[in-house]
Amino acid sequence: SKDWNGIDQVVLRSPHGASAKVSLHGGQVTSWRNDRGEELLFTSSKAIFKSPKAIRGGIPVCFPQFGNCGSLEQHGFARNKVWTIDENPPPLHPNDSRGKSAVDLLLKPSEEDLKCWPNSFQFRLRVSLSSDGNLILISRIRNVNGKPFSFSFAYHTYLSVSDISEVRIEGLETLDYLDNLLQRERFTEQGDAITFESEVDRVYLSSPKCIAVLDHERKRTYVIRKEGLPDVVVWNPWDKKSKAMVDFGDEEYKQMLCVDGAAIEKPITLKPGEEWTGRMELSVVPSSFYSDE
Ligand code: BG6
Repeated sequence: SKDWNGIDQVVLRSPHGASAKVSLHGGQVTSWRNDRGEELLFTSSKAIFKSPKAIRGGIPVCFPQFGNCGSLEQHGFARNKVWTIDENPPPLHPNDSRGKSAVDLLLKPSEEDLKCWPNSFQFRLRVSLSSDGNLILISRIRNVNGKPFSFSFAYHTYLSVSDISEVRIEGLETLDYLDNLLQRERFTEQGDAITFESEVDRVYLSSPKCIAVLDHERKRTYVIRKEGLPDVVVWNPWDKKSKAMVDFGDEEYKQMLCVDGAAIEKPITLKPGEEWTGRMELSVVPSSFYSDE
């Protein structure tokens, strides 16, 4: 089907009624619903659905950099490009190719991209829904260049939450993190689970493969499983920054939390012909299924 901007989007459905939408603009997941039709990802009511800017919400892909340095735009260009459908994707691990509703997307650099980042690559993104409604993103980035290159990466995942002050993250306690609010200075997390009462913009380092975001009020827990993605970005703009963003409502910070599977601190380096894979799987379980409640 066509989306808001006349650009194609693909709808995935699981046998039990979960669904996801993927826009070719940005290769961005813009919706993920459970089998009761409840939206699990946040999209701003002020989001601007217009190329060439990323949509404020869903899961934009940050590549070839996370953040803002050098001549590249903030979070890289991948989220601002129109991707194509990959009709003939190379095979994946059998567990990731059987019995799923999936779409394969492809991004190659344009002439303009090569001017600010002179490295030829093929970026394959498979988005799939498992039969029980889990959302799985698999990125495969291949160096088709004559020389090595390095990049950083994030699945910038906007989770929908009932009330940010009732949310906590488990799995990041005691880790080191870089604080983007303090020039990426390094700290060690002291608290138990992470909770929210002001702006947070951090990159947690060398995290476990599985972390959980507990939404107490909605009695819902997001489980994030990741491979190839050692870091986790945690971002909530809080009140002041929300007011400064044109494509974000003043009060919407209460209903969202970004928790990104990422590879940032140690850039990924690929030699000519090499390929990197970064996999993230999101699922939702009722809180009673999850540990200590
Ligand atoms: C976060 C960054 O993850 O993304 C923040 O750490 C940034 O610093 C935010 O403000 C949103 O970025 P953008 O480019 O989508 O407005």
